[in-house]
Amino acid sequence: MRNAYEAHNLPNAIAAMTITDQEFDQIRSLVYDRFGITLNDGKRTLVIGRLQKLLKTEGIRTFKDYYDSILTDTTGRVLSKFVNRMTTNYTFFNREKEHFEFFSKTALPKVVTQLEQKKEKKLRVWCAACSTGEEPYMLAMLMQDFFGHRYKEWDAGLLATDISSRAISVAKAGIYADERVEKIPGHLSRRYLKRIRGGDWAVSEEIKREVCFRRFNLMNTTFPFKEGFDIIFCRNVMIYFDKATRESLIKRFYQFTKPGGYLFIGHSETMDRKQQLYKNIIPAVFRRETD
Ligand SMILES: C[S@@+](CC[C@H](N)C(=O)[O-])C[C@H]1O[C@@H](n2cnc3c(N)ncnc32)[C@H](O)[C@@H]1O
Repeated sequence: MRNAYEAHNLPNAIAAMTITDQEFDQIRSLVYDRFGITLNDGKRTLVIGRLQKLLKTEGIRTFKDYYDSILTDTTGRVLSKFVNRMTTNYTFFNREKEHFEFFSKTALPKVVTQLEQKKEKKLRVWCAACSTGEEPYMLAMLMQDFFGHRYKEWDAGLLATDISSRAISVAKAGIYADERVEKIPGHLSRRYLKRIRGGDWAVSEEIKREVCFRRFNLMNTTFPFKEGFDIIFCRNVMIYFDKATRESLIKRFYQFTKPGGYLFIGHSETMDRKQQLYKNIIPAVFRRETD
C-alpha cells in the first residue's frame, strides 16, 4: 500500500502529516475516555509528533484510518501501542526528594508502629503511575534500609502499576543510565546498584524481587484489591487529568488507604481544599485519619 508520504512524493524525513479538526477531536476523546488524560488544543502538534512515526511504520495513511483501527482491534494491541506513544513517562530516582525523606523518616515509622501495635507485620505500599520504575525502586531501597535485618520478618513488598506496557517492561528490566540514578543518596546506590557492561546501572535482585509490576489503568472505576494500602504514591499523573477525574480518583484512593495511611501526590498537583477526606500533612502529602 502506498502511504501518504509516497503519494506526495515527499522524502520521508521531511514529510509531515496533518490532522483534521475531526480527527484530533476523535483522538482526544478516546484518550480522555480510556485514560482520563486531557489534551487541550495546544497539544495538537504533540499528538501529530507522537503518532506520525507509528502510523508510518504501521503503513497507515490517515489519523482517521488509525482511529478506526484502534476501535476495530479486538486484541487490545493497537490500543496498547497507542497509549505507549501518548503517555509522558518522564521520571527519575529521588524526584521531589522531600517526599522520600518524609516517607522514610515519618510515614514509614508511623505506619510500622501502628502495624506492630496490632501485631500485623504486613506493610502494603502501592506506587500508582510508576512509569519506568525509578519511583518504586527508590521506595523499595528506603524500605530495606529502614527495616535492616528486620525486613525478613515482614511481609513488605510494593505494588507498582502503570498504564504503559512499554514503561512497565523498562521498569522490570531495572537498568538505568547515569543521569537517571545520580540523585540517589550514595549509601543507597552503593548498596543497591551495580555498574554493568556498557556503563549503565542495574538495580540489585534484592530490590527487584520486592516490586511487583503490573499494567493497570487508574480510570478503572473499581479497584480490584482485597485490602487497603498503608502508603500510596500517585505523583505527576493527575496533572494530566481534569478536576472531575482527579476528584473521583482521590475518592477511590481514599477507599483503599488504610486508616492512618498516607497518600503522596506530585508537588505541582492540587487536591481540592474543601475535600473532607484526607488531612494535609506537608505539601502534597495527605493522611487518612485513624478511625
Ligand atoms: C510523568 S509519569 C510520573 C512517574 C512518577 N510517578 C514520577 O512522579 O516521577 C506519569 C505516568 O502516568 C502514567 N499514566 C497516565 N495515565 C494513566 C492512567 N490512566 N492509568 C495509569 N497510569 C497512567 C503514564 O504512563 C506515565 O508513566
